[in-house]
Amino acid sequence: MWFYENVTREQFEAVKDKVEQMMLSLGAQKADVQLSYEQKTSAVTPQGTAEWSSQRAVFAFGDEYFRIGEVLFSKKPFIVIEFGSYDDLINNTMEDAQPFPYDLSPENMLSEVKYSLGIEPYPEDDELSPKKGECLMNVLEAINSRRSYRGKFKPDPVPREHLVRILNAGLNAPSGCNKQTASLIAVDDRQVLDKLLGVIQPPVAQTAPAAICVLTQRINAYRDKCYAVQDYSAAIENMLLAIVELGYQSCWYEGHITDEDNIAGKMAEILGVPSDYDLVCFMPVGIADGEPTKPNKKPFEQRAWFNGFGKTE
Ligand SMILES: Cc1cc2nc3c(=O)[nH]c(=O)nc-3n(C[C@H](O)[C@H](O)[C@H](O)COP(=O)(O)O)c2cc1C
Repeated sequence: MWFYENVTREQFEAVKDKVEQMMLSLGAQKADVQLSYEQKTSAVTPQGTAEWSSQRAVFAFGDEYFRIGEVLFSKKPFIVIEFGSYDDLINNTMEDAQPFPYDLSPENMLSEVKYSLGIEPYPEDDELSPKKGECLMNVLEAINSRRSYRGKFKPDPVPREHLVRILNAGLNAPSGCNKQTASLIAVDDRQVLDKLLGVIQPPVAQTAPAAICVLTQRINAYRDKCYAVQDYSAAIENMLLAIVELGYQSCWYEGHITDEDNIAGKMAEILGVPSDYDLVCFMPVGIADGEPTKPNKKPFEQRAWFNGFGKTE
């Protein structure tokens, strides 16, 4: 299945063929390397999850190896040439050169291939590569479109690759004195998930195909200062944004599970969490089968000011 709006899978693969031809014309050679893994890409769109595995060839050029991949950027697929040493190739740890759009003129495409192969340095202002401003917009878009979603989820599984990206977003959050007191457990095993959902009362997110449990260690950062709550809150918000960015929905369930019923304690037991960690939040992850509701937010002027409390100038 393939969901990008303006190009079919066949058209996109045909562009990749052209890029490979350009690599050959620039002196790259097809390398005779059998890889023990498939190159996988996936994208989540409002219509569902698109998975694609590619058998793209490996090319040798200079003393490096190259291979064409793809990334989803600003909801549009970009071509990216991966590069690295033989070990990187074998261990699937190649780096991505700068992605470029698939719909470039042949001339501009050739320039991008030259930059990716290191034949020419990237120009100071590479008009064709994704802009910093575009990335920033993505973050702002995610922030502004995030809502707590409490509806049903579609059954589509969440690929591990996406869960890893979401977990990494959480782990990359700031933490007081860099104590990194928040830890995370992603759950995508249906049996484990059902056990967890079975102890949450009143029930929530029963149809979610995956979830993330957030743990905290309430240790002091310095003297008597404990920033555990701030640390895990920052991690949760980062993950909520990554979840939205990848096309999923979630909700920060904390009140539900940390009151006097000690549901969180039961969940921690199911997950084998050691006693010096507290489970503090449950976040379902999945494709929404409905629309999140938009809560009322107080107007800007009631909560944000310039140059002094209540000031508008
Ligand atoms: C610390 C904290 C605890 C929360 N606990 C719950 C909860 O237990 N159940 C729930 O449905 N939503 C919970 N939420 C989500 C809030 O209800 C939600 O963020 C708020 O209503 C604003 O809606 P929005 O997220 O769509 O902007 C929690 C949010 C935070 C920050």
